[in-house]
Amino acid sequence: MHTIRTIKGMVAWSRSAERDGRSIGFVPTMGALHEGHKSLIKSARAACDAVVVSIFVNPLQFGPMEDLERYPRPLEEDMRLCRREKVDVVFLPAVDELYPSAFETAVSVQRLTRRFEGISRPGHFGGVATVVTKLLNIVHPGKAFFGQKDYQQAAVVSRLVADLNICTEIIVRPTVREPDGLALSSRNTFLTLEERKAATVLYQALAAARDVIRDGERSAKKIRAAMIRTIWEEPLARLDYAAVADAETLEEVRSARGRLVLLLAVWIGNTRLIDNMELLCR
Ligand code: PAF
Repeated sequence: MHTIRTIKGMVAWSRSAERDGRSIGFVPTMGALHEGHKSLIKSARAACDAVVVSIFVNPLQFGPMEDLERYPRPLEEDMRLCRREKVDVVFLPAVDELYPSAFETAVSVQRLTRRFEGISRPGHFGGVATVVTKLLNIVHPGKAFFGQKDYQQAAVVSRLVADLNICTEIIVRPTVREPDGLALSSRNTFLTLEERKAATVLYQALAAARDVIRDGERSAKKIRAAMIRTIWEEPLARLDYAAVADAETLEEVRSARGRLVLLLAVWIGNTRLIDNMELLCR
């Protein structure tokens, strides 16, 4: 496994792989790798000849009051996981390698970022869109793999790749969950034991909404109310948002029909968690 820290080195490696006719699968991460990342790496391994994983805690996507400083950085463990998964290259740029002092360009996706995470975390998607565009330009993969847990992020990345004619196919893989339903996330490591138990409330709320839909409810207001009631029942949980939206446009709907997504953001203590569930309503 190669560790590459410079843009020049990464570009040279990718161009050489391309010349050799090898397809590149790319998994961009901020490290603190878990089973969710592992499943993305496995998908990349299965679909492509070579796998590149980037580990870069992107300061641009954290707001001033967010958890950039305390974001976990267990590099040794991450490298071990990548080695075990037979990753070909770990791209590990420093902050000033991606953002030298003269850097002043931002990629901005418009409508899709004006709701949900975009409201709660102003500037977040600008940071994600900018770093993902840079990483795709540097690594030049045929396919890039993202987790469905970050549903809006996957939509934003798919939009920017289409709009900017970037020749990478975006593959979105299902959320990996703990046996009790909690979506895997690097931020789960912040939870105390008590909070960890409380955090299952996100999945319970999504399941409650799914169940009322299965029972025939089509009013988005009532479906949303089912999620909110479940969150309120957990004393350690504080709701940020709960929404019933069109799976494609992420517009909130009034009536549950067609492909939908239930979206949730909830504070458990000092940790903000997100989750979602896609549904098809007839
Ligand atoms: O999902 C993440 O880990 C990050 O937002 C990403 C896509 C690696 C960009 O920094």
